[in-house]
Amino acid sequence: MSQTAGLRKRKKDASPSESSSAQHQDARRTDTHGSAKLMYTLAFIGIGLLSYFNFSIIYDSAKLVLDEWIGSSDHWDATPSSDDFVQFQVDEDKRQAVVNAFRHAWSAYERDAMGDDEYHPISMKGTNLTAAGGIGYTVIDSLDTMLIMGLTDEYSRARRWVDTKLSFDRDANFNTFETTIRVLGGLLSAFHLSSYLPHSSPSWRSLAPTFPHPDRLYLDKAIELANLMLPVFDTPSGLPTSQINLAQQRGAPNTEFPDLISTAEAGTLQLEFRQLSEITGDDIYWKRAEKVMSVIKTARLPHGLASIFMSQDAGQFVTSAIRLGSRGDSFYEYLLKQYLQTNRTELVYRDMYDDSMQAIHNHLVQKSYKTGLLYTSELIPEQNHEGEVSWRLTPKQDHLVCFLGGSLMLGATTTGALVQPVSIPPKPDELTLTGWRDWKTGVELIKTCMRTHDTATGLAPEMVHFRIPSDGMDGQEFAPEDWYIKGARPGEEAAFDARYILRPETVESLFIAYRLTGDPRYRDSAWSIFQAIDKHCKVDTGGYASIMNVDELNSRQEDKMETFFLSETLKYLYLIFSDDSILPLDKYVFNTEAHPLPIFNPTIPTGFS
Ligand SMILES: *[C@@H]1O[C@H](CO)[C@@H](O)[C@H](O)[C@H]1NC(C)=O
Ligand SMILES: *[C@@H]1O[C@H](CO)[C@@H](O)[C@H](O)[C@H]1NC(C)=O
Repeated sequence: MSQTAGLRKRKKDASPSESSSAQHQDARRTDTHGSAKLMYTLAFIGIGLLSYFNFSIIYDSAKLVLDEWIGSSDHWDATPSSDDFVQFQVDEDKRQAVVNAFRHAWSAYERDAMGDDEYHPISMKGTNLTAAGGIGYTVIDSLDTMLIMGLTDEYSRARRWVDTKLSFDRDANFNTFETTIRVLGGLLSAFHLSSYLPHSSPSWRSLAPTFPHPDRLYLDKAIELANLMLPVFDTPSGLPTSQINLAQQRGAPNTEFPDLISTAEAGTLQLEFRQLSEITGDDIYWKRAEKVMSVIKTARLPHGLASIFMSQDAGQFVTSAIRLGSRGDSFYEYLLKQYLQTNRTELVYRDMYDDSMQAIHNHLVQKSYKTGLLYTSELIPEQNHEGEVSWRLTPKQDHLVCFLGGSLMLGATTTGALVQPVSIPPKPDELTLTGWRDWKTGVELIKTCMRTHDTATGLAPEMVHFRIPSDGMDGQEFAPEDWYIKGARPGEEAAFDARYILRPETVESLFIAYRLTGDPRYRDSAWSIFQAIDKHCKVDTGGYASIMNVDELNSRQEDKMETFFLSETLKYLYLIFSDDSILPLDKYVFNTEAHPLPIFNPTIPTGFS
């Protein structure tokens, strides 16, 4: 096993299905292991960076015609017409069940592995990302959840650990992106929330600070970490290196693909670095993160979509897959959130977001051909004998893509709003046409994500494929109607795609959708997911584990509790069963690891347009 910060290590050999191994490479969850498919993708780099200009798509299925489905949604109406004022109320019992789950998870970690980066609940031990020692990965990722849940005792022990044990003096390479979203983001969020919380019984109605000053400890640590990381931006283009040696303060390439950085890795540092500049008044972090965005903007491809890899030196996209899942996902998420973070003052991100969403609708949004489930497909580059690249539309969707439904709905009520604030849910005359397009796509995508929970366990797999006419499945016995897990065969070892690793993306979207609609069905959906997690992933001795096959009762568990279970999955579940006074969406943006950061009017001039 590589000891570099290949956070989220995957068992490659658990992946029999030939076509999907590259997609396990996943930017939110970076993997340093190679795979056949990725090599295939990278073979195109030699062809030249901009073969994109011949942008032709091989459509495996009929392209979606928007009119076909707008307004056609079934019982789950995208545009409730009710004028009733939505009253958000805490669901005490369900919320308490989520807190109990957090305690079950955290107390096992604290008992067996306090301070270690990662936790393995079955073997009841912790590990660090590198042999050089831990960087507070799990503890820092969990701080704000404890503050929000009002877990005063757990919180004060975790704080003490940060105060007395945390060190970034580690001579090893850590993943730039993961360290930013989890550790830097976690510290910044804890810093902000520390002046409000914890309340032993959270009374969110009055969001007045309880303490005169936020806890400086977290800011000092955040500054220290960010300063150690700044060398990642010292590249010819300004795009960051994929890794950082913290002790040596030296950026390092991804060993397997030197010169490449995934688009999501480059485009998912900005909320955190910008927030730090806003707090400290030192614009260096802001400038570096903004430079990355200007490189990405300049490299823009003619069709408006972003490939999943960029060249660090050239600052260009390289020919590689286009998708909203791994290595692409949070780039799109942060376009919107960067616009929201600075209180909608930086129109450049808004423009980039608008472009991308248009392109996604033009090229990626599809409908499964039997039951009309809306999903997003991937575009995979292929080369013909003449060396021309064309793009194959592949009906595969990562679980990661389930963030998109909520994100589109949030975008609709902000970028697509004609009035402020829009009603909950929006009224017909409150959104632009584009706003309604995004709203409806968002609603439909969440619906589809919920359908992927129609499994033996009620949990959704890591990846699904949707039916298309050319898939050759018609007429087969047990041909799935709309979606399926590739490589899953009865009696054989579970397909790699069949796992559930405690991911948050569906509940993240359910949370946003619930806040924006008040529709209790989103809460119901979240509750059934929570119950399925509690039933199938809970480890009796403490903690929660991933499961190998969502479509099998008593599926084998995998000895890993991802930190995002504590920072994201349980936090979003807690928030769904809370009222809307806690972390209101017009005052906070959540980073991609679910760390809430306050929206602010920027005092630092940006100069980027
Ligand atoms: C992780 O790193 C910390 C800090 O160096 C160390 O105290 C701890 O023992 C390490 N844990 C493991 C499991 O190696
Ligand atoms: C955002 O801008 C609006 C006016 O456009 C203002 O009313 C609001 O207070 C600002 N929010 C923050 C957090 O500064």
